[in-house]
Amino acid sequence: MIDPTLIAKAVDLLRLGGLVALPTETVYGLGADAENELAVRRIFAAKGRPSSHPLIVHLADARLAASWARELPRSASQLADAFWPGPLTMVLPRSGRASDWITGGQDTVAVRVPAHPVMREVLTAFGGGIAAPSANRFGRVSATTAEHVRADLGDSVDLILDDGPCSIGIESTIVDLASDAPSVLRPGAISRAELERVLGREVPQRESGIRAPGLMQSHYAPIAGVELVTAGELRTRAEALLLSGRRVAVVAANPLDLPREAAAFSMPADVTDFARALYATFREIDRKGFDLILVVPPPDSGLGWAIRDRLIRAASPRR
Ligand code: TXA
Ligand code: MG
Repeated sequence: MIDPTLIAKAVDLLRLGGLVALPTETVYGLGADAENELAVRRIFAAKGRPSSHPLIVHLADARLAASWARELPRSASQLADAFWPGPLTMVLPRSGRASDWITGGQDTVAVRVPAHPVMREVLTAFGGGIAAPSANRFGRVSATTAEHVRADLGDSVDLILDDGPCSIGIESTIVDLASDAPSVLRPGAISRAELERVLGREVPQRESGIRAPGLMQSHYAPIAGVELVTAGELRTRAEALLLSGRRVAVVAANPLDLPREAAAFSMPADVTDFARALYATFREIDRKGFDLILVVPPPDSGLGWAIRDRLIRAASPRR
């Protein structure tokens, strides 16, 4: 647990327009007062993120969503009852409280009530909305430990609340409720099946909504190149790459029978554990200076859905 004086310090800093890195159950967030334009501009500067890319507003309580959205569709209340606090972000028609510097000038706002106890304490004491993107440099993998935040953002953050590794390790599911038909903009720990069970209708995943930079190609990517292979292809592909002089890392649940020069980063067989370990593994591989990562994606069940989504993005062409 975190020292209560640190919670108070975080809240003071937020009130003064500071930047505080906060643990959530998904990934660490880089938080600022969502109603303080200068503070929010500091978020974009610290991350190196274009300011047209909208931020998620984090709230202590589902009831607060009503003041950030100009209308709360029934679907939003149903999903809030089922999944908040938790790893679900809802995109809703914005109210006047959600300024252009939060929404990137769009007519919608993304809101989430996170479950992490430290984040909740800060949110409750602060009272208002905390704008928080993932606490990483723009375009890199999210931070799942305080060390990751320090490595990426260093002195540009006023305080990092360190509560150890994030329990989920992958960003929240984003569901768009601003148009007539709900859709998933980003897969996460809340599955399509769970959303569909609660809403009683299909919730397709939308592929082309470029509005969310998380949907841009080669987002969520380590510095090393990423290539996806099946377990059966792994050995042959690793051999070919090593022959061409590349430094190859292998990320797989069962990296058996590899050429000796390939560095194996063995992943847990359980998809939930795989998700928790993924970004830390990518960061370790980058620290060690590998050229290319061969990844065997986990099965599609549970968090496997979100993991495969991030891996496909990481493997897509870089600009
Ligand atoms: O798990 C999470 O969601 C973490 C933790 C800190 O809450 N946050 C996070 O924030 O991943 P960020 O900014 O790294 O990713 C949020 C995504 C971005 O792709 C952004 O474009 C999208 O949400 N987004 C935010 N507002 C939106 C809006 N109004 N319409 C569509 N997409 C939006
Ligand atoms: Mg992010």
